[in-house]
Amino acid sequence: MSFLELKNVTMKFGGVTAVDKMSLNINKGEIFALVGPNGAGKSTVFNIISRLYEQNGGEIFFDGRSLNKLKAFHISRVGIARTFQNIELFGNATVLQNLLVGTNTRKTSNMFSEIVFTRSVRDAEVANRIDVEEIMDFLNLQPYRQKYIMGLSYGTRKIVELARALVLKPKLLLLDEPASGLSAEETVDLAFWIEDIKKIMGITILMVEHNLNLVNKVADRVAAIVDGKVVRVGSPKEVQSDPKVIEAYIGA
Ligand SMILES: Nc1ncnc2c1ncn2[C@@H]1O[C@H](COP(=O)(O)OP(=O)(O)O)[C@@H](O)[C@H]1O
Ligand SMILES: [Mg+2]
Repeated sequence: MSFLELKNVTMKFGGVTAVDKMSLNINKGEIFALVGPNGAGKSTVFNIISRLYEQNGGEIFFDGRSLNKLKAFHISRVGIARTFQNIELFGNATVLQNLLVGTNTRKTSNMFSEIVFTRSVRDAEVANRIDVEEIMDFLNLQPYRQKYIMGLSYGTRKIVELARALVLKPKLLLLDEPASGLSAEETVDLAFWIEDIKKIMGITILMVEHNLNLVNKVADRVAAIVDGKVVRVGSPKEVQSDPKVIEAYIGA
């Protein structure tokens, strides 16, 4: 069985079929990219996997279990973390605070142990801080640690969002248009980070991305999505040279 499997997944919004009996298989350890015109259903796929939406039909399996019954607030527990197409961070809090909030969602302690602040809670708190520091080092965020989110550039906020997802120590990372709004220089950094997240951290990555340079550089496999359907799966080169894919882009 694949690491992540979508089986005939359908999502309708009123009369619009955003995702149409879609099947996809993502292997452990790969970087898999979804490409396709605006409105193709890519973000909807992410929202279904991360359980913000409940699909109308079909099933999703991750790491050997069905996600169908899972609620959005439980996905970090099974090992999935994501970033959003429109950044979602606490603007009135610092970078450090946003990252420490991220660690709270994977806490295993209960209310009682937190009230009495037992040794295990204290140890977990320290471990969380060490993780946050490591991730800030990795993504060059140390200069911004005490800065408020709302004062940061768009590009830096996107990197903070990536950091917040990594703090959850996911097995699967979902990145929705990570390069959009980034400068050319920031995009180069991002490509290296994405490769390191796979190679060094061992995290499987599913990303939506319009920047084909980035896709070509990092993706092991690509799926072209058009009108909620998978048109082609293959290497970045295979997918981009497929006449059906080219036609869909021209049509859009
Ligand atoms: N919450 C929603 N309510 C109604 N329609 C939606 C919603 N989310 C997405 N859609 C529709 O579903 C289709 C696919 O959207 P989306 O998944 O955002 O596309 P993409 O990310 O590929 O650009 C679009 O027609 C969009 O308008
Ligand atoms: Mg989208």
